[in-house]
Amino acid sequence: MMSPAVRILGSATGVAEAAADRIVEAAIAAVAARGVFHLCSTGGSTPAALYRALREPSRAARMPWGATQIWFGDDRVVPRVNPLSNVYPLDTELLNTDAAGADSPLSPSAVHPWPTAAADAPSAVRAYLAELQAVGVAHTTDGFPIFDLVLIGIGGDGHCLSVFPGSPLAVGGAPVAAGVSAPTHIEPQLPRLSFSLGLLTSAREVLALAPGAAKAEALARIFSDATVVGDLPAKAALIPTATWLLDTASAAHLPA
Ligand code: 6PG
Repeated sequence: MMSPAVRILGSATGVAEAAADRIVEAAIAAVAARGVFHLCSTGGSTPAALYRALREPSRAARMPWGATQIWFGDDRVVPRVNPLSNVYPLDTELLNTDAAGADSPLSPSAVHPWPTAAADAPSAVRAYLAELQAVGVAHTTDGFPIFDLVLIGIGGDGHCLSVFPGSPLAVGGAPVAAGVSAPTHIEPQLPRLSFSLGLLTSAREVLALAPGAAKAEALARIFSDATVVGDLPAKAALIPTATWLLDTASAAHLPA
C-alpha cells in the first residue's frame, strides 16, 4: 500500500492548477478510450479554486465537457444551496455564469449530487448507487464504481471522504457506501453520506489535494510507516494509482 506519486507545488493555487491540468489530460484520455469521463469530486475548501482553474480558457477549451459526468465521494446532509454542501462550490464556480457573462461549459444534467433529501441514509445510498448503474458507470465485482478520476481532500485528523479515524467505513469488507453520523471532533458537525475506502482502490486514478500548513502534521503521520489506515483513513490513498498534490507548507514535515 505504498508508492503514490507526490508533487510539491509552490502554493495552494499551484495545487489547484496542477489538479486542473491533470483532470483535463485524464478526461481527454478517458473520452478517447471509453467515450466518457466520470469524475468523482470532493468537498471541503480545496475544490473551489480547482473549478475556477478548470474554467480558465486554456483548460476549458481542451476539456471534453459534453462527455464529462461529475459525481461526489461524499456529501454533508444539507440542501445543495447550503454553502456547506459539497456541491455548492461546483454550483457557484463551475455551473454558474461567470463574471464575464459566459455560460457554464457543463450541463447541469451532468452533475450528480448525493440525494440528501432522501428519507434516510440507506435510501439515499440505494438511490445513488442505482443512479451510477443507470448512467452506465462500470463497477468492480464487489460493487464499487470505477471512476476515471477520484479527487479527495485530506482532513487535519487524517480523514478522506467522510471516513473518519476509527470509522467502520475504514475497514476491509465495509459497505460500498453508508450514512455517517455527524462527527463531533471536526467541523462541520453534520451527518454525511460517503463511499468507503474501496472507492480509492477501485478508481483508475486518484488525486489527493492537500495544500496548506494546517495539513502538515496530518501528512507527516499519513506518510509514516508506523501508522495504520484505521487511525488515518487517507493512508488508503498511498497507492500507485494516486498522485498527492501538496504545497511547500503542507509538505514541511515530510522526509525529503
Ligand atoms: C467533506 C470532505 C472531506 C474534505 C476534507 C478536506 O465533506 O468534509 O469531502 O473529506 O475533503 O475534510 O477538506 P478541506 O479541503 O476543507 O481541507
